[in-house]
Amino acid sequence: MAVLVAGGAGYIGSHISIELLNNNKEVVIVDSLMNSNEDVIKNIENITNKKVKFYSLNMINEDELEKVFKDNNIESVIHLAGLKAVGESVKKPLEYYYNNLVITLNLLRIMKKYNCNKFVFSSSATVYGQPKTVPIKEDFPLSTTNPYGTTKLMIERILKDLYNSDNSFRIVMLRYFNPIGAHESGLIGENPNGIPNNLMPYITSVASGKLEVLNIFGNDYNTKDGTGVRDYIHVVDLAKGHIKALEKIEKDDGIFVYNLGSGRGYSVLELVNTFEKVNNVKVNYKFTDRRPGDIAECYADISKAEKELNWKPTKTLEDMCRDSWNFIKNSK
Ligand code: UD1
Repeated sequence: MAVLVAGGAGYIGSHISIELLNNNKEVVIVDSLMNSNEDVIKNIENITNKKVKFYSLNMINEDELEKVFKDNNIESVIHLAGLKAVGESVKKPLEYYYNNLVITLNLLRIMKKYNCNKFVFSSSATVYGQPKTVPIKEDFPLSTTNPYGTTKLMIERILKDLYNSDNSFRIVMLRYFNPIGAHESGLIGENPNGIPNNLMPYITSVASGKLEVLNIFGNDYNTKDGTGVRDYIHVVDLAKGHIKALEKIEKDDGIFVYNLGSGRGYSVLELVNTFEKVNNVKVNYKFTDRRPGDIAECYADISKAEKELNWKPTKTLEDMCRDSWNFIKNSK
């Protein structure tokens, strides 16, 4: 009996695969390697001293994906595969809708055919749009501001309809806040190609001299120091949340949704200052205009996940900054 991790060679999927293996689960990874490479699979195996079964394929190809279910006894699926760059999704909406929706539909149709009924979906805090208040709870109104976010919201709706039509499905939708950090081994982490969009990869690129200066998007927000506030969570804490989500649907029937964040808001400046302090490295920055579409503050109320999943993040902002930098130094 194996867990299929769709997108398991990616930043978050690779950390989830490690936690699964550490919990003695058999792991099958499917990944297109569009945003990753096969070394990640080797590193997962080196870290855990266990083997994973890996398929390099694009889930758009339903026949190839079905073969994975034919060849293996897949008991549950954690689905993280998809295109994920917000800015690119605005420029290429058709690609984002086609890819993210079709691969998910292929996966769910095959699961139904093979009577595989446990599904954990990687959703995002982006489905809360512009929240009126913080901290954000799971029952807040949902809306989106870009095609990437809309694919997440559409998939959540598809999952609800699927569950309503077939109660044998057991589904958890996890709304991630801002995952950063890396595995403590320094062997896997986030190292995107090209110019990064998100804050932590940008900080590490400036710290390593790849980029000259970090643009801090706005210092006139109504926040503690004027810069944007987000809920950064260590990727290993986030990965552990998936193990708890699987345990939940091994035990209980239903469809569930949980925020996964640290439950705390940190400003851009706090993150930059902490990064400089714990790593003893300089990050050049300057203040620029606000980034269109950004909100002042976004952080989670995580009490539902704490109570129902018996999960609690344990890593500090210092841990996140140290581990992010350790991975980059190690991969140079
Ligand atoms: C972004 C996406 C969100 C997605 C998430 C995935 C947007 C508008 N939102 O969230 O939909 O789910 O990534 O990880 O793109 N910042 C800077 N300078 C930079 C980069 C970021 O000052 O070069 C600031 C931002 O203004 C923000 C904070 O850092 O206050 C975090 O930004 P980012 O890492 O891009 O994440 P989100 O915008 O929260």
